[in-house]
Amino acid sequence: MRAVADIPDDYAILFLTSGATVQFSMVPANFLDGGVADYCHTGVWSGKAIEEARRHGTPHVACSAQASNFSTIPTSCEWSAAPRYVHFTSNNTIYGTQWATEPAAPAGVPLICDASSDLFSRPIDIRKYGLIYASAQKNLGPPGVTLVIARRALIATGHKDLPPLSQYRTYERERSMHNTPNTFGVYVIAEVMEWILREGGLAEMERRNRAKADLLYGFLDQSQLWRAHAQPGSRSAMNVTFRGASAAHEERLLELAEARGMSGLRGHRSVGGMRASIYNAFPLHGVERLVQTLSDVERGS
Ligand SMILES: Cc1ncc(COP(=O)(O)O)c(C=O)c1O
Repeated sequence: MRAVADIPDDYAILFLTSGATVQFSMVPANFLDGGVADYCHTGVWSGKAIEEARRHGTPHVACSAQASNFSTIPTSCEWSAAPRYVHFTSNNTIYGTQWATEPAAPAGVPLICDASSDLFSRPIDIRKYGLIYASAQKNLGPPGVTLVIARRALIATGHKDLPPLSQYRTYERERSMHNTPNTFGVYVIAEVMEWILREGGLAEMERRNRAKADLLYGFLDQSQLWRAHAQPGSRSAMNVTFRGASAAHEERLLELAEARGMSGLRGHRSVGGMRASIYNAFPLHGVERLVQTLSDVERGS
């Protein structure tokens, strides 16, 4: 992983269990300490992170995409006077939006990111971050492992009056083996890192993901029947969300796609519509088949 993402030695790589959702509370438990932290609100997951932060201090919503029904990434943020950290969600899995670059956090304020659905899908400059966390189940490996990459100096500032497994320093000190880790999950992640290196690294992942996303958005933008949810400039290369002109068209798509070996196209229960998740492992020919199927439904198949 250090080779894949050029992760320097002053960053710890930790393997936790229990999912990214637990990070929504573990981050503020360690670093908020009754203070103010700035949150960028770009969808369902950032909303959950904000709610958890309330237990430990005051989350300040520095920017929000709510007014556009989360179809955009905010272009500016209003930071509070002295936030403990800035938190953002790099890819919004449910609404299908993605930050093109990190928000410009105030100088000296740690940038903390939920990168659960786009980590290692493109090059990343780890040095810009205080802490990055990600559930494994999108681009890394099987569910049940949560990856945390954190600056060691930030870990050292964490609250000490917490149960050991709620403190990042425990995982750092014990090399993620304070209690039994998900050994098989971590093993698979190692295999996936080897695969990324063999395939050409993160630049190659980005090239492939761009090509897949461009093909799908290109089709949606010219279609009379299908319409992308996310606005140009804010669109995710991982989760392409879209709607049909009617529920009947969407049902027909699901039926035809299933018959052609494509599953999981129904949008998240909280937003409806369709969602094509095209993570690193998803091949270009799968997107070509999806575009063909969308086109067939449009032509009345
Ligand atoms: C961006 C993001 N954050 C958090 C989560 C929650 O992850 P978990 O179910 O592993 O807690 C997800 C899950 O899809 C996600 O996409």
